[in-house]
Amino acid sequence: MYKILDRVDYSDDVYMQVIEAPAVAAACKPGQFIILRIDEEGERIPLTIADFDRAAGTITIVVQAIGKTTRQLQKLGKGDFLANFIGPLGVPSVIEKVGTVVCAGGGIGVAPIYPIARALKEAGNKVISIVAARNQNLLLWEDRMREVSDELIVTTDDGSRGRHCLVTEPLKELCEAGDIALVYAIGPGVMMKFCSRTTLEYGVKTLVSLNSIMVDGTGMCGACRCSVGGETKFVCVDGPEFDGHQVDFDQLLARQRQYLPQEKESLDAYLVSTAVNKVA
Ligand SMILES: Cc1cc2nc3c(=O)[nH]c(=O)nc-3n(C[C@H](O)[C@H](O)[C@H](O)COP(=O)(O)OP(=O)(O)OC[C@H]3O[C@@H](n4cnc5c(N)ncnc54)[C@H](O)[C@@H]3O)c2cc1C
Ligand code: FES
Repeated sequence: MYKILDRVDYSDDVYMQVIEAPAVAAACKPGQFIILRIDEEGERIPLTIADFDRAAGTITIVVQAIGKTTRQLQKLGKGDFLANFIGPLGVPSVIEKVGTVVCAGGGIGVAPIYPIARALKEAGNKVISIVAARNQNLLLWEDRMREVSDELIVTTDDGSRGRHCLVTEPLKELCEAGDIALVYAIGPGVMMKFCSRTTLEYGVKTLVSLNSIMVDGTGMCGACRCSVGGETKFVCVDGPEFDGHQVDFDQLLARQRQYLPQEKESLDAYLVSTAVNKVA
């Protein structure tokens, strides 16, 4: 059993949990993820390791509640336990000194990009970060990103904080100015697609972290397969990071939507059962 040591709510839908998992904390690297199960009946869900503390033996996850399991997890807090917490999974980010790196995080994607930006900075790179969200209430970890960046740009779609534009606007300006060795873009599939399209024009290497649906997380079931450079890849064992210029984002987005009716049915049943329990 894995104990939840802390929970912070950032909004009605986004929350952070700190989990006691010493073996995962000892071995994990930026870019990796875990798969957890709340209880023995539970679905396995993949979540990125947003931070880790090797001395304390803890892992931090930041979660957006969008379906049954992420809503159920949202109800758990300090002192509660998770049945399974497996990791670290996936190929770690390659952290090298390459020069100037842009780290663009959109919405919940800011949390996964944070340990990568920190490691890139520690490796001696100049890190320019773009933290983007639909509005200021959805902006995440601006302070943490500022700490690990040489420069921080904030954008919101509605202009409620920072620049009133999409993440691709400052990204394009930075590429145009030149001297960008590498771009990391992590966030919703659509955001990663358009960031990759923006940088392709300038030939700037761009890495994205794909969030396909997963089941086993070991390369056996094929649920997470995606197409990269015309080849089939498994996000759980070949990724989650891939060259954004080679990813077939349209296929990724279509595959993410393939179980929508079942996911809706599962969430509705869960919400009804929790409402009934409240009345009883
Ligand atoms: C490697 C990896 C790392 C991830 N890291 C994080 C993270 O750090 N924080 C976080 O909040 N989420 C992360 N995700 C996504 C997270 O796993 C899903 O949101 C979660 O499994 C949804 O479970 P659910 O039962 O609550 O919702 P479901 O009922 O399974 O799905 C509800 C809705 O979300 C969509 N959805 C389901 N799975 C995904 C997915 N993988 N990506 C995008 N949309 C999805 C469905 O199409 C549906 O619209 C990650 C996914 C992967 C593959
Ligand atoms: S989740 Fe089953 S192969 Fe990747």
